[in-house]
Amino acid sequence: MKVLGIDIGGTGIKGAPVDVDQGKMADDRLRIATPQPSRPEAVAGVVAEIAQHFVWRGAIGCTFPAVIKHGIAFSAANVDRAWIGTDGEALLKDATGCPVRILNDADAAGMAEMRFGAGRQRKGVVIVLTLGTGIGSAIFTDGRLVPNTEFGHMEIRGKDAEHRASDRVRKDRDLGWKAWAGRINEFLSRMEVLFSPDLFIIGGGVSKKHEKFFPHLKSRAEILPAELRNEAGIIGAALAAERLALQDP
Ligand code: BGC
Repeated sequence: MKVLGIDIGGTGIKGAPVDVDQGKMADDRLRIATPQPSRPEAVAGVVAEIAQHFVWRGAIGCTFPAVIKHGIAFSAANVDRAWIGTDGEALLKDATGCPVRILNDADAAGMAEMRFGAGRQRKGVVIVLTLGTGIGSAIFTDGRLVPNTEFGHMEIRGKDAEHRASDRVRKDRDLGWKAWAGRINEFLSRMEVLFSPDLFIIGGGVSKKHEKFFPHLKSRAEILPAELRNEAGIIGAALAAERLALQDP
């Protein structure tokens, strides 16, 4: 079965039909720059453009970089604040004419990693972190997600963790891999105290360069790079909308 997966980020909106049984993209993905400002109507226009490009009529899963409860955005750290209180599901359904499910981007990436990537068949407590513009998080116990954890906003040295250890900070501050890994280690050790995870999975675009910083990471838990990399959001979005697709006529 195929579901259209769309990953809405602060800089790009990427989509592709996904074969949800295989956990693979079924076509080349389309990427369109996120409109600036990233107001809800403008983003919905891009989502509609992606659905039209694939001549899509079925279910759509969409990620969004915010707390999402029952389709409504409750935060907006790296996107326009007009999203707060917006019913994203209703907005995107109107814009595309398709049934839509929307969820937090890291929760989606985590779901994809747990089903088809580094977390396959892993029991116990698994924490998936996406290092990008911000830091996204997803926590699973025996494969079940507790949504909207937002560990990237945990305070470390008086700042949000993502303002110290995201990949954007590494680039903006021109941090070396070892120095950046030291900041990630502080964050991992805080999470260890709270959750005693069995495994950390580190995702986000930078995970493709994992050999540069993984040797400097330290934790009692096992640490693995994400396997689905940048596709995890698109695949996870599609997985989240799988149930809608089954209800399609
Ligand atoms: C947002 C999260 C999101 C993460 C990664 C954070 O700033 O608050 O909701 O998952 O960035 O995009």
